[in-house]
Amino acid sequence: MGNNNIGIDLGTTTTIIYIEGKGVVLNEPSVVAVNTETGKVMAVGDDAAKMVGRTPAHIQAVYPLKDGIISDYKLTKELIRRFLMKVYSSLIVKPQVAVCVPSEISGIENDAVIEAVASVGARRIYLIEEPMAASLGCGVDIFRPEGHMFIDVGGGTTDVAVVSLGGQVRSASTTVAGNSIDEALIHHLRIAHSIAVGKKSIETLKKEVADCMAAPERNRSSTISGRSLLTGLPQRLTVDSMDLLPSILECAEDIVRCAHGVLEQTPPELAGDIFSEGVILTGGGSLLRGLDEYLSQKLKVKVRVAQDPVNCVALGTGRSLDYADRLESGFRNATPGLRG
Ligand SMILES: Nc1ncnc2c1ncn2[C@@H]1O[C@H](COP(=O)(O)OP(=O)(O)OP(=O)(O)O)[C@@H](O)[C@H]1O
Ligand SMILES: [Mg+2]
Repeated sequence: MGNNNIGIDLGTTTTIIYIEGKGVVLNEPSVVAVNTETGKVMAVGDDAAKMVGRTPAHIQAVYPLKDGIISDYKLTKELIRRFLMKVYSSLIVKPQVAVCVPSEISGIENDAVIEAVASVGARRIYLIEEPMAASLGCGVDIFRPEGHMFIDVGGGTTDVAVVSLGGQVRSASTTVAGNSIDEALIHHLRIAHSIAVGKKSIETLKKEVADCMAAPERNRSSTISGRSLLTGLPQRLTVDSMDLLPSILECAEDIVRCAHGVLEQTPPELAGDIFSEGVILTGGGSLLRGLDEYLSQKLKVKVRVAQDPVNCVALGTGRSLDYADRLESGFRNATPGLRG
């Protein structure tokens, strides 16, 4: 405690920074607004998000961590650097920083993260994989010889892991997550209702109306604005949960397949633990209405959403620094000059 331990959840859609003893100090979209003529970064986070879909031709708003991988090295570095600068002013001692990186990023992409953190000043830098961070953030004792299963439904990826004795026993990941659900809904509205809808509106519709367990008695509806593909003119359309159900289930089914694959490979003793303890959902995507019930029905185990699903990974990333010696996998020291 008092060590200025910082945890950064570098998510595809959202970056969350947690400081030990202070809590969550930053929660902003992982977006960068860049001037394509000069290459200059204009804004990051909330300020850049306001520009999405509304920028003049020479300003582009980009999410540099697309689908769980770093699609733009330079912009990712700038994103991290600027976020850290915002929270660093409150620190007296150089911090230890742990960063949760998307599970499928490669060595060279990790270097962008490490360089960005190092450039702002850090005593030590650690990288942690998302399922490990999620499990630590849930407050479950993952160091006991018991199996626990976590499913983190983020924006870019869904990560499934079985954890026991401080390490990952089995894990898998799929790119079916919040963003691809949005895309499936956009596609559905184009085909079924000939209307083009923007990303922000579709995300709102998903949160308000989409439901994996949609049924006539719990049907919800909302009105969405877009552009008619038939007339080219602005159009409003009322959409309900039942209408979105087939598209939602296609995505949910993929998450089931991923989790099922992990369960199939889990040693029987641990599978028994998971059967009695159930599965914990984390990540913003776990808030999709009915997802817990749907997964429970399909996987035939109890499924519950973590207490603070959105901040769980950032919290666990920060806490990982206290457990550095006990974490068996999915965590490593990446301090430049101290690696290995
Ligand atoms: N109430 C809700 N219902 C459905 N989806 C939601 C809800 N709230 C947030 N989401 C979705 O959660 C996703 C973001 O989750 P999260 O912040 O955990 O992702 P991330 O950590 O940035 O991504 P990743 O872990 O894949 O890198 C978005 O797709 C968002 O639309
Ligand atoms: Mg995440």
